[in-house]
Amino acid sequence: MEFKKPVIDLIKTRNSIRSYESCYLKTEEIKKIVDFLKKDHKTVFGSKLRFKFIDASDMYPENLRNLGTYGMIKGARYFIGGVFEKKENNKNCLVDFGYVFEKIILFITDLGFGTCWLGGTFNKKGFAQKITVNSNEIVPAVSPVGISQKKRDLRSSVIRMLAGAKNRKPWGKLFFSGSFGTGLSETDAMPYQTPLEMVRVGPSASNLQPWRIIKENNSNIFHFFVKKSWHLDAGQNHLNLQYIDMGIALCHFELTALELGLKGKWALHDNIPESEKYSLSPDMDYIITWDGLSISSAD
Ligand SMILES: Cc1cc2nc3c(=O)[nH]c(=O)nc-3n(C[C@H](O)[C@H](O)[C@H](O)COP(=O)(O)O)c2cc1C
Repeated sequence: MEFKKPVIDLIKTRNSIRSYESCYLKTEEIKKIVDFLKKDHKTVFGSKLRFKFIDASDMYPENLRNLGTYGMIKGARYFIGGVFEKKENNKNCLVDFGYVFEKIILFITDLGFGTCWLGGTFNKKGFAQKITVNSNEIVPAVSPVGISQKKRDLRSSVIRMLAGAKNRKPWGKLFFSGSFGTGLSETDAMPYQTPLEMVRVGPSASNLQPWRIIKENNSNIFHFFVKKSWHLDAGQNHLNLQYIDMGIALCHFELTALELGLKGKWALHDNIPESEKYSLSPDMDYIITWDGLSISSAD
């Protein structure tokens, strides 16, 4: 594992930090982050991704407004930005982006620093300049990096309250058994109760928690779907951040399964979107399946 602490602890401790101490990070800490960004990170769909550490201290504090986090972030001197190479359909690129960027966020959490996914409230042009983006690349999200301010200020508390940041949907609304008609109990999910719980507590754009998962009866096969919110799914070229949320879910699920010694792999089951067996509604978009080995065959 690439982390010092158990990944389950990192997933549980991470939350969005919007106010930072204005101090500098040590050179060796920056180097650890930069080295991690440069790694050849595995993706689920083979998208081309690139990440960059942005030192914005020279812009601090007056010109940071131009870089643009629209007042959401206070005190941050450093950011991570990422890009993917455009394709005709950017859906899987967004999933891959979420999958790798969340691993980076957990690595930074492990170093003891704060982060905050920003997919909407940042100035794309300002960051694109800092990352030197090519014409075939897109910056879907960035995150500040720094030392979290000890006491949460009023502004951060209000943003968290408006986003309902502490709330998560109950199991019955997210996880299903055999089809969308039947909820999955934590007992029936065993031994995958914890990987699913780590999906449930993950971050998502506007905290909408669009991930929906069906477990096949009597096997460790899990189908992952995005429940699309109409206002975030405005056409082909629009970046629907809910696919990034799905990448985050795949990251949490896989890392937790690995930590618990549960073996499996990602695979596309082509028959699922057309199958009547799962009672899919039109807003449900199939993404991928975790084919988990049964415990006896994993030995
Ligand atoms: C893809 C994505 C985009 C997000 N965009 C923003 C954003 O633009 N501005 C912001 O303040 N928070 C943003 N967030 C943070 C969410 O509001 C936050 O994750 C959610 O409310 C849950 O709170 P938590 O991260 O503290 O657990 C984003 C999160 C994700 C996953």
